[in-house]
Amino acid sequence: MRRVGGVVRPPGDKSISHRVLMLAALARGKSELTGLLTGADVKSSARVLRQLGVDVSTIRQGATVQVTGKRLTPHAARLHCGNSGTTARLILGILAGQKFSATLTGDASLRRRPMRRVTEPLKEMGADIKERGDGLPLTIRGGKLRSLTYRSPVASAQVKSAILFAGLTGGVPVTIREPYRSRDHTERLFAHLGLGIHERDGAIVFEPFSASTIPTFRLSVPGDASSAAFLIAAAVLAEGGELTIENVGVNPTRIGFLVVLERMGAHVERVNLRDEGGEPIADLLVRPAGLKGTEVTAAEVPTLVDEVPVLAALASRARGATVFREVGELRVKESNRLELVAANLRAVGAKAEARGNDLHVEGSVAPPKGRVETASDHRLAMAFAVLGTLPRANVRLSEKRSVAISYPNFFRDLKRCFA
Ligand code: S3P
Repeated sequence: MRRVGGVVRPPGDKSISHRVLMLAALARGKSELTGLLTGADVKSSARVLRQLGVDVSTIRQGATVQVTGKRLTPHAARLHCGNSGTTARLILGILAGQKFSATLTGDASLRRRPMRRVTEPLKEMGADIKERGDGLPLTIRGGKLRSLTYRSPVASAQVKSAILFAGLTGGVPVTIREPYRSRDHTERLFAHLGLGIHERDGAIVFEPFSASTIPTFRLSVPGDASSAAFLIAAAVLAEGGELTIENVGVNPTRIGFLVVLERMGAHVERVNLRDEGGEPIADLLVRPAGLKGTEVTAAEVPTLVDEVPVLAALASRARGATVFREVGELRVKESNRLELVAANLRAVGAKAEARGNDLHVEGSVAPPKGRVETASDHRLAMAFAVLGTLPRANVRLSEKRSVAISYPNFFRDLKRCFA
């Protein structure tokens, strides 16, 4: 019998790690960060900030990272964002407020990802951006910006945050509306640092105080709810026991996964609720459960956008059908996750299909068997590794290295859940 047990701690939150590094870089003086994710994406943000002249100490497990912010200056011909969409899009917002020119690039996956969703509003604010198509590489020359009132066509925290960072570095007010509320870590950090952010009639409004400077700060980054989701999923699919997952961020804009999982029949208890840097944190207690299919609505998608692969994997083990509405955004993540989730579920013997922008998954009890093409996408590798923990499963991943993007110790922690 596959029993879960013990206590695990997910790595630091990826979204918050990027944001605190960038805000610390913009402050004048030394900030101290603990619990930062040591994954490759966060290292990409640190590298780009160093290329802009900021001192960032080495990011290592357990280390307190010191960031000494100073006036940004271009120290490299090209700023390399690696695989990280968050690095590229948020840094663009910061560069929009700087009076120099910089060229951004990234790996093959990142170069395929759309950037116009960010460059268009930044151009409206007055940034000069030279781009060849809808993606990297591109060159930005920032400078004197205008205020902006923007209605974003996508519910994207990266678009929202890029505009907020442009408002902050350019010293101009911005107002943003989005179709559904995306993760609000930038807003919470701005509020935590006293940076003039509020909500007005459903819009996010940033109004710089005159001569506002960004204070240095100390902050401990909560565990990543998106990384915890893989451990939760493995525990739900087990046959007995209870798993404790400590120090997980439970920001309401991030935990749609838990809401949907409860609707499917699992219960995740939250204990020791507390607060860190304006973010709610809890320890989670997870027990195995029988699942039933559900409908995930378009409004829920932004609150679980990175959890669709693992939720789809769970749906393939549920009684009945599950449909995810309006998940077209998954086509432009680290891979075409919409098509690859469906194709890989079929590859391991489940029934799944992308129809338009919806994803349909049928539940099955047959052990998953087959080869999964991860396309070097960390979340696909981890979602299918979870299916591989089922009794009599034989799931072979095309590669495992990609987990280093967001969860370097994933395979060790997954094993520990079953020890
Ligand atoms: C992120 C926002 C989301 C998410 C990504 C991280 C962020 O992307 O998928 O992994 O840190 O702001 P979008 O904002 O493009 O939806």
